Amino acid sequence: MDSLSVAILTCSDTRSLAEDSAGAALKGLCESRGWTVVDHRIVSDEFTMIAGTLEVIVDELIPDVILTCGGTGFSMRDVTPEATHAVCDRMAPGIGEAMRLGSLEVTRRAMLSRATAGLRRKTLIVNLPGSEKAATECFGFVADQFEHAIQMMAGGGH
Ligand code: MTE
Repeated sequence: MDSLSVAILTCSDTRSLAEDSAGAALKGLCESRGWTVVDHRIVSDEFTMIAGTLEVIVDELIPDVILTCGGTGFSMRDVTPEATHAVCDRMAPGIGEAMRLGSLEVTRRAMLSRATAGLRRKTLIVNLPGSEKAATECFGFVADQFEHAIQMMAGGGH
């Protein structure tokens, strides 16, 4: 299949684009798989900002995948999964489950990520935790299935 197009959306109240080492690491991991990163931006941990930005990215850029980074934990400002749910037509809970399954081998704190995933139109939105370590580990547990997921959405069989 053609190279996937990927947008990265970091959700953080404190980080600037220049300081977003997790987002930069994800960009590198995508590019090393031959995928094209078409967008990388930061929004604050506001439900309306995250949901609105996800809608704009899907509707205007039409990427195959959006990776969100951060805001999956238990702080009252962590609302990325809720914003993802709000903009998706269909949820894909197995992706979050696979991340937690793999991550529990690394740290018991994995159960504190509420990351989810879902589909808006033909874009797959996947939440990743916010630290560079957690984001890159979680990406590694699920990224191998993205190409097949996109093929299936495009009407391809198994
Ligand atoms: N998953 C992996 N693989 N590695 C980690 O270090 N950290 C956990 C968890 N998932 C972690 C992980 C921690 S400490 C938290 S608080 C949650 O992800 C949520 O992170 P977030 O609020 O930055 O999204």
